[in-house]
Formats: sequence, C-alpha cells, structure tokens
Amino acid sequence: MVESLEQLKARVTSYLDTHLANDVDQSTLAASMQYSVLAGGKRLRPTLTLATVEIFGGELTEDVVRAATALELLHTYSLIHDDLPAMDNDDLRRGAPTNHRKFGAGMATLAGDGLLTLAFQWVTDNQLPATMKSQLALELAKAAGPAGMVAGQARDIEGTGRRLTLDQLRYLHRQKTGALLRYAVLAGGIITVQPAAVQRLLAQFGSSYGLAFQIYDDLMDVVGTTTAMGKRVGKDAAEHKNTYPGLLGVTGAEEQLQQALERAKNAQAALSQLTGRSFAAYDDFLAYFKL
Ligand code: IPE
Ligand code: IPE
Ligand code: MG
Ligand code: MG
Ligand code: MG
Repeated sequence: MVESLEQLKARVTSYLDTHLANDVDQSTLAASMQYSVLAGGKRLRPTLTLATVEIFGGELTEDVVRAATALELLHTYSLIHDDLPAMDNDDLRRGAPTNHRKFGAGMATLAGDGLLTLAFQWVTDNQLPATMKSQLALELAKAAGPAGMVAGQARDIEGTGRRLTLDQLRYLHRQKTGALLRYAVLAGGIITVQPAAVQRLLAQFGSSYGLAFQIYDDLMDVVGTTTAMGKRVGKDAAEHKNTYPGLLGVTGAEEQLQQALERAKNAQAALSQLTGRSFAAYDDFLAYFKL
C-alpha cells in the first residue's frame, strides 16, 4: 500500500524538522540552512523516492527516509544558489524572502554548500547496505554535479540573452531540472534493488517527468501567480532567459509539456507491464500539471 502524497510529504518534513540542526555546528549557518529547508516546498523529490520504494513493496525505515530526504537538502541548496544576485537575483522563494536577502550572499552561499555536502552525509551515514549507499552516492553525484544540474545551470547562465534552439533548450532543462527528478525515481529502484531493465524505465519516467516539470515551471512564470508559486513570476522574459513559452509561445510550450507527459505515462505503463505491479501512485505526481 502506497501512502498518500500528503503522508509521504509529512514524513520528509518531520525528518527534516528533527534532524537538520543536529549536523550543523555554527549557529548562523544552522539558522540559514533551516530557514530555507523548513520554509516549505512541495517535497516532491524525496516523496517520489519514497512512493517508488512503496510501489516495490519496500518498507519506509528510518534509514530509507534519511537517504531519500537527503535529496531535499540538495534541491534546497540548488534553489538558494539559483536565487543569488549573481545568478537569478530573486528576492522571494517558498513564499518568503530568499536566503541571501535574509542572511546575506556570503552566508547564503555557505548554507548552500552545507546542504549540498550534508546531502551526501545523509545518503551514506545510515545502516543501508554499503553497495546500496555507494550506488546512491554515485548516482546523486552524477545527477547533481557538473554533468547534471550544475551543467544545466551553466548552460542557463551562458544562454541568457542568446536564443537557444529547441534541442538545446530541451537538453538544458533535462540537465538543470530533469537530472534530480530522474535521480529521485531511480533512487527508489536502487533502494529496492531492482534489475537493470526496471531501473532503465524508472530513469525514463523520472527524466520525462523532470522535463515536463521545468516546462511547466516556465509556463507558470508566464501564466501563474506569485502567491501560488511562492516566488516572483514574469521574471524569465525580463531577464532574457531561455524558456519554452519564450521560444514557442504558451500554446507551443503546452504541446511540448503534453509530449513529455506522454513519454512519462508510457514509461509508467511499461513499468506496470514489466513488473506486474501497480504504478497508479505516480498518477498523483502527474496530477501536478494543471493547464
Ligand atoms: C523549483 O522546484 C525549481 C525548479 C526545478 C523549477 P520546486 O517547484 O520543486 O520547488 P519547491 O521545492 O516546491 O519549493
Ligand atoms: C532552476 O530553474 C532550477 C534549478 C536548478 C534550481 P529556475 O531558475 O527556473 O527555477 P525557479 O523558477 O527560480 O524556481
Ligand atoms: Mg535559474
Ligand atoms: Mg530561478
Ligand atoms: Mg523558473
């Protein structure tokens, strides 16, 4: 039985509430890290991992929750750094002033550094089998690092003010956002020791879901509201960012979103077919996209 998204989200947030401060040994740094992590957020990435573990009949032990929740630390680091004046220069995140607005750019940079590093601590400092931990750490490093999210952010900066082609933009979005969501789903397969063919399909689902997620984020910057998103909208065009609606218009971006969602649904169906299990729990994650 897979718990509801709300139940899984509550597990993640409660783990963060209880454990984050324990591992930080400087009071301002601890306050700064907690400020952004506990500000809210959908907790989508660790929740995807936990839902995947439950789909395969795995138990959500404290160690599994710790390893899964590590991704929320890493994701929050990516948001803090993304918002810095030298990057997107944003003043609102998760409905509150951005980390650098509250703590200054120096402390915000360090809060991000701390969260990135602590994520790898949580993935490895637990009682899961050693081979599982090293697989998780390797996949997380590849997803988050200079061949994944960080590379996408570099493409984002370098592409600003220049018009990328659709292929280039898709590649950028797969890296900056798709890579962590791909890892989120894959991690559930690693924790439940799935065969390679199943892991390939999990990665496909996560990657297509992740592309859809960034296309939708681009769309919400055009048609969404600051209240609903908890961050300023209308900034991408003003900052000359490459986005799907910028390149294709709202309708064109919506079509690309539907195509990415189709690919995710195909992977979801193939997973059911191959494993004989129900992947209906992913429907709740797909329901996030409302046009
Ligand atoms: C925001 O991610 C950054 C993108 C990848 C678009 P989320 O939309 O998951 O942000 P939170 O975690 O809910 O704040
Ligand atoms: C950033 O994309 C994705 C990250 C890797 C943090 P955006 O710059 O579009 O994310 P938001 O809109 O600020 O959340
Ligand atoms: Mg950005
Ligand atoms: Mg941004
Ligand atoms: Mg955005």
